[in-house]
Amino acid sequence: MAADRARKTTLDLMDFIHAGPTAAHAVAAAAARLEAAGFARLDERAPWRLRPGQGFHLSRGATGLVAGRVGSAPPAEAGFRIIGAHCDSPGLRVKPKSPYEARGYLQLGVEVYGGPLLASWADRDLTLAGRLLVRRRGGEPRVALVRVARPLCRIPLAAIHFQREVNQEGLKLDAQKHLAPILGLDGGRAPGAGALLELLAGAAGVRPADVVGADLELVDAQPPALASLREELFAAPRIDNLAGCHAALEALLRAPATARATTVIALFDGEEIGSQVPSGADSFFLDAALERLSLAAGPGREAWHRARAASWMVSVDGAHALHPNYAEMHDPHHLPALNGGPVIKVNAKQRYATSLLTRGRFEECAARAGSPVQHYVHRSDLPCGSTIGPIAAARLGIPTVDVGNPMLAMHSIRETGGVLDQEWMIAALVEHLGRGERRSARRSARPPAAAPRPRSARRPDRRTGASRETPAVRRSGVGRPPSRGRGPSARGRGPAR
Ligand code: CO
Repeated sequence: MAADRARKTTLDLMDFIHAGPTAAHAVAAAAARLEAAGFARLDERAPWRLRPGQGFHLSRGATGLVAGRVGSAPPAEAGFRIIGAHCDSPGLRVKPKSPYEARGYLQLGVEVYGGPLLASWADRDLTLAGRLLVRRRGGEPRVALVRVARPLCRIPLAAIHFQREVNQEGLKLDAQKHLAPILGLDGGRAPGAGALLELLAGAAGVRPADVVGADLELVDAQPPALASLREELFAAPRIDNLAGCHAALEALLRAPATARATTVIALFDGEEIGSQVPSGADSFFLDAALERLSLAAGPGREAWHRARAASWMVSVDGAHALHPNYAEMHDPHHLPALNGGPVIKVNAKQRYATSLLTRGRFEECAARAGSPVQHYVHRSDLPCGSTIGPIAAARLGIPTVDVGNPMLAMHSIRETGGVLDQEWMIAALVEHLGRGERRSARRSARPPAAAPRPRSARRPDRRTGASRETPAVRRSGVGRPPSRGRGPSARGRGPAR
């Protein structure tokens, strides 16, 4: 049954989120799924030899991932079908000289990464996850992932008796003074640093003496959970944007292995801090990977530029669902609902990359998949957020649409999403990855000049009544009006399959 399938998909998303407390863990979890499905690991430093139909993945610095499947036609002819998402989330990162002792307590120094809702980090069961640099005999040090399974530290708020007005005036948290978590009590002669090192080394399965460095984050110790009366909602850390990563990954795994176009997903690091990191959307990470895929199919810089011109990208990142307690914060005519389907994000200043053509194309993909879509525009009197879409689109020159599933409490340590939306998003993305292949096949199956369209291209869509256009028609701007989101009216429906 369709609702069961949606629930199963969300339970799988929750597992993926739990496996990814940091960007490095999420990338490793994604790579493990790809390898289980036969995708070969590529090394950026080695020559690439790829054959049509082959799945591949590569990571850069362990915190970004590009994966895909080589199409049966060269990219210069069939283009790339790309999905982008980001694998980092806002939070608190541990400073190098930690822990330290202060006034009888053992504490960690932390820096704020990105824009978390700081209050949500207070009085929660927190633990540590990240990477250890481990010495190897006769070789370069290696990186080991580490995660402590149990609650390890807390950031207690000051009691109400010290700040009587806090509920009226708002909680103010100074990033330097108020966020240092308490790891325990000063152990007197037993130094805390040694005990923490032993704990971390044990969790990573390495010898404490071999650990030469650590890169640690504070993370929520509580696993994701279904959390509402009829289990129609779920709560989890990092829904922004591991939901986007999971959707991209699952769409790639489900997409047909015989597509003409080369399919690519990119899980970028550094989105929450501006994307200017080596595996970020504002780096050459995806750019270089696409160019090499093009060169692997045939020599020539022109072929690469032709490939770009024939490509489409969908950028997936969280969207704001209507919050009933803060309804006035939304534009009254754009109110995405949880379990209302994927949201297409639009912004006049191009804080979202969505254009008329890319919006229309995604709406068609969703309609084909039986997924409802909704639309989001930020209030005109508030500055709009942004994402990887505009950055990657500008760098690559590839038409891009910004979409995302509706969620509450974005950037809280624990966010809320709807149980139906992930399956709808994945289904629409599979159409995006596979659809161009069918169109290209149709295009190449007929003479290049103005030949009559095949019947299938003119047949109206049974669900929407809209006729399907060829890319040539769409690109000339003669498409039908794009806006036909079903919006909140779709609330409560199971996936239409
Ligand atoms: Co995001």
